[in-house]
Amino acid sequence: MEAEPSRSEITEINSTLSDATSPPLVTGRARSILHIECCLKTLSTVRYEVIREQVEKFLREFKTSLLCHSEISDFQDVALLKENVEYMIVAEAGCDTSEIQILENVDLNIHVYQLNEDDVVEEYQEEENVLTANYWDLPARALDGLWDNLIFDENIKIRLLDYVYTTILFADRNVNSNIISWNRIILLHGPPGTGKTTLCRAFAQKLSIRLAERYSHGKLFEINSHSLFSKWFSESGKLVQKLFQQIYDLIDDDDAFVCILIDEVESLAATRKTALSGAEPLDAVRVVNALLTQIDKLKQEKNVLILTTSNITEAIDIAFIDRADIKQYIGLPSQQAIYGILSSCIRELMRVKIIVEEEFLLDWRAVELYQHTNSIDDPSIRLYAICGKCQATYAQFLKSWATTTLKDFLKALEHAVDNEIIGRKLTLENQGEGGTCKMLINERN
Ligand SMILES: Nc1ncnc2c1ncn2[C@@H]1O[C@H](COP(=O)(O)OP(=O)(O)OP(=O)(O)O)[C@@H](O)[C@H]1O
Ligand SMILES: [Mg+2]
Repeated sequence: MEAEPSRSEITEINSTLSDATSPPLVTGRARSILHIECCLKTLSTVRYEVIREQVEKFLREFKTSLLCHSEISDFQDVALLKENVEYMIVAEAGCDTSEIQILENVDLNIHVYQLNEDDVVEEYQEEENVLTANYWDLPARALDGLWDNLIFDENIKIRLLDYVYTTILFADRNVNSNIISWNRIILLHGPPGTGKTTLCRAFAQKLSIRLAERYSHGKLFEINSHSLFSKWFSESGKLVQKLFQQIYDLIDDDDAFVCILIDEVESLAATRKTALSGAEPLDAVRVVNALLTQIDKLKQEKNVLILTTSNITEAIDIAFIDRADIKQYIGLPSQQAIYGILSSCIRELMRVKIIVEEEFLLDWRAVELYQHTNSIDDPSIRLYAICGKCQATYAQFLKSWATTTLKDFLKALEHAVDNEIIGRKLTLENQGEGGTCKMLINERN
């Protein structure tokens, strides 16, 4: 006889299912699960189970509450942990969004893992030397911390995790796939530069940590969709076959969880559309169809997930949209999200001493509270004001700057935002009345 779902499983079912707006399947209160992630030093050889027990003992004995999304550093007093643990973080508490979690009210789920030091492996198509795929062994040192540094307005990250937990629960319970079917495909779409590709990589890394008890290691296989549809279509068919053969080899390893990232899927759709209209060779249609067939075959496999992105939603092949279990729009960040992104960038620049002084930046709630009372010379208030201005721009322009003081940094940031705003205004004017843009640029010069 099938066992009843446990309380924690009920919570998971409740918090999930592909559409965040759908009502919960099962009602009932259950204890939250607080996720703790514990990264071991590269040379540690202690069994994960032993560390897990020690961490639970340490937390239950010495802590009464824990702050979500924070680091625990005082484990150094426990010799075994000091010797083996590189860092330990409190992640989220399932569907409970409270920041502070009282330990006696939660079940702990402690995820122990070690980072893989290998770099990404790039695969090239031999004859033309075109990059066809990237391959990562997960969890990878190179992707460490990515997930926590991605800041979105809605609960997008929790929603993605819940989806995967649900697919696993359903697979374990042998839910009849003719009644509830999964394609194992997630589509992230939205404007350029909003973090879609980064989120896919971070998500694959996160899954390799969260599913470590079930799958001893993870893999991320990134297909370069442009290479599939470059000029040599007759070769592309073979390439799809070869790529999927590689994927099947990875999936054959039952101890591995495999994420496949197909970035910018609109190139696939565009190809099929122009091909059907007769503008592209028929080979192109065959390639797209071959790809879709291969993707369909993958849904039978329990240890695979396909992540796709696009920044032109309208251009994505309808066949593709229909296949996605989750279609998540990733929009431009709000003032609050930008404040979060930029403060974490500034903290990082302070850590590595590119910004020399160590200033304390207020969190969002505090900065909102003090914006009228504190002086604009206060770095947090200045940053707040800049974020208000650049709501329609992104955080990337930070990257190329290396300044020495926080004041200079904020000045440079404001300057970049102002430039961006002028640039956009010019573009809009140019679109409205042809030629104005060019004239204005000449005037400015
Ligand atoms: N919400 C965010 N939080 C933190 N960093 C972000 C966020 N959005 C974007 N970034 C940063 O901006 C950079 C660009 O992100 P990414 O390449 O993932 O965007 P994208 O949506 O895939 O863009 P495109 O559609 O052009 O491919 C990355 O370095 C990423 O870390
Ligand atoms: Mg991208």
